[in-house]
Amino acid sequence: MLKKMARARRLLLTEGGLTLRLGFRKGLVAAFLGIGLIGGILYHSVDERTINNDVSDLNRDLLRIAHRGASGYAPENTMAAFEKAYHIRADMIELDVQLSKDGQLVVIHDSLVNRTSSGKGGVHKMTLNQLRKLDAGSWYNSRFRGQKIPTLEDVLQRFGGKIPLLIEMKSSAANSGIERKLAELIQKYDQQSSREMKDTIIVQSFNIKSLQTFHKISPEIPIAVIVSRSAEIKEEQLNELAPFAQYLTVSSSLVTEEIVTRIQRTGMKVFVWNIQNLLDIPSYINAGVNGIITDYPDIVPIYVYERL
Ligand code: G3P
Ligand code: CA
Repeated sequence: MLKKMARARRLLLTEGGLTLRLGFRKGLVAAFLGIGLIGGILYHSVDERTINNDVSDLNRDLLRIAHRGASGYAPENTMAAFEKAYHIRADMIELDVQLSKDGQLVVIHDSLVNRTSSGKGGVHKMTLNQLRKLDAGSWYNSRFRGQKIPTLEDVLQRFGGKIPLLIEMKSSAANSGIERKLAELIQKYDQQSSREMKDTIIVQSFNIKSLQTFHKISPEIPIAVIVSRSAEIKEEQLNELAPFAQYLTVSSSLVTEEIVTRIQRTGMKVFVWNIQNLLDIPSYINAGVNGIITDYPDIVPIYVYERL
């Protein structure tokens, strides 16, 4: 295991290793050249994004999933964070949805607007119009002043079919009926889009009942169950989830090679959340996860040629 981890670290830290072997100056030049080369390749391929990031992406060996957008670089759950995720070539965008007072699907994590906007109060106590007036960017950095709380429709309009979306239905009594609204909106975009939404959208939640309700309405859309307790990944529980869920989004503290194997044996794939440290990544790759959810999707290697 240690040997495996050391090899995986070598894979990630090649550039750093080069710096050490060549001496400081030459190493610095080599590092700059390397960064320039990688930057050039990435910059050049941004325009090809739509072509490369097609439906087959969900079947990639390892998905780099931007948590609340690229929220390490821009205010979470805003269009700025989603644009950033798209342009740094994340494989998928994770986002949170809830219902406004007037029943609109809005993209925000907390049940209060206080932490991530200029306003105060409950998301469910405000109409879309009221939510739209809030500034959802300045709390993060003045550069993002003017960012709004997006609707899910805004996000689907801009990114639907262009980059896969991992849509989390937030569970609270105030979100009752969210499943049908979400299913109907996805259906609407499915009809408009040239790509089938079932290939580019996964719906997830901590709330199994809510997921089962959604699955009954829209059985073709893949489901991910979010788990944060070890009791939820026992053999028996997994066998109950496998008939309707294709993915398990597992808290990083629970992920081991043995757990991943156990889950994958049931036919489900495994996403791990929320990884923030580059040096933690090799162990999750070695554990065999299918996706890494992180605020910094660019710290996950783009291609993993082989499992070590
Ligand atoms: O994708 C899983 C993760 O997003 C769940 O936690 O609190 O960030 O929505 P949270
Ligand atoms: Ca989430």
